[in-house]
Amino acid sequence: MRLKQIKTLPEFAEAVRLRLEVFYKEQKVDPLIEMDQFDKSAYHFIALQKKKVIGTGRVRIYNKKAKIERIAIDKRFRHKGIGTKLTRFMINFVRKKHISNIVLHAQCYAKEFYEKLGFKAVGKTFNEAKIKHIKMVYKK
Ligand SMILES: CC(C)(COP(=O)(O)OP(=O)(O)OC[C@H]1O[C@@H](n2cnc3c(N)ncnc32)[C@H](O)[C@@H]1OP(=O)(O)O)[C@@H](O)C(=O)NCCC(=O)NCCS
Repeated sequence: MRLKQIKTLPEFAEAVRLRLEVFYKEQKVDPLIEMDQFDKSAYHFIALQKKKVIGTGRVRIYNKKAKIERIAIDKRFRHKGIGTKLTRFMINFVRKKHISNIVLHAQCYAKEFYEKLGFKAVGKTFNEAKIKHIKMVYKK
C-alpha cells in the first residue's frame, strides 16, 4: 500500500469516484454537499493498492489551522489500518507546514477511530449532511 498527495487529474478523478461510492452510495449524502467549493483549494491524498485508489482524504488550511475532511476507505479494505495510516500521513503533511491546530468533524460512529489517532472530542454533537457529528481537535 502506498500513500501520496494527489498531483494529477486522473488521481483526483479516482478519489472522487471513491468519495461518491462511500459518501453518496453508501451513506446517502447529497452529492452536491459531498463535492463542494473547497475541493479546488484543498490538498488531496490517496492510498493506493496496485495502482487502485482504496482510500482518500483532504486537508483544508485556513486561518492558520488545518481541517481534515472526506476520509473514505474502500469498504473491502476497511479494518486493515489503512484509514489510520492515511490520516497519520495527512497529519504529518500539516505539521511539516508548522501548523499545530488540526481539527475535524467526525461522524459519531468513527469517534474511536480518531481518538486512537490522538484527537479529542469537544462540544456537543450536531448534524452535518443529516449525519450526527462531533468536533474533534488533535492533541498530540
Ligand atoms: C472510518 C474509516 C475511515 C476507518 O478506516 P479503516 O481503514 O477501516 O480504519 P482502521 O483499520 O485504521 O481502524 C483503526 C481503529 O479505528 C476504530 N474503528 C475503525 N472503524 C470503526 C468503526 N466502523 N466503528 C468503530 N470503530 C472503528 C477501531 O478502533 C480500529 O481499531 P481496531 O482495528 O483495532 O479495531 C472507514 O470506516 C470509512 O471509510 N468509513 C466510511 C466513511 C466515513 O465514515 N468516513 C469518516 C467520516 S468522519
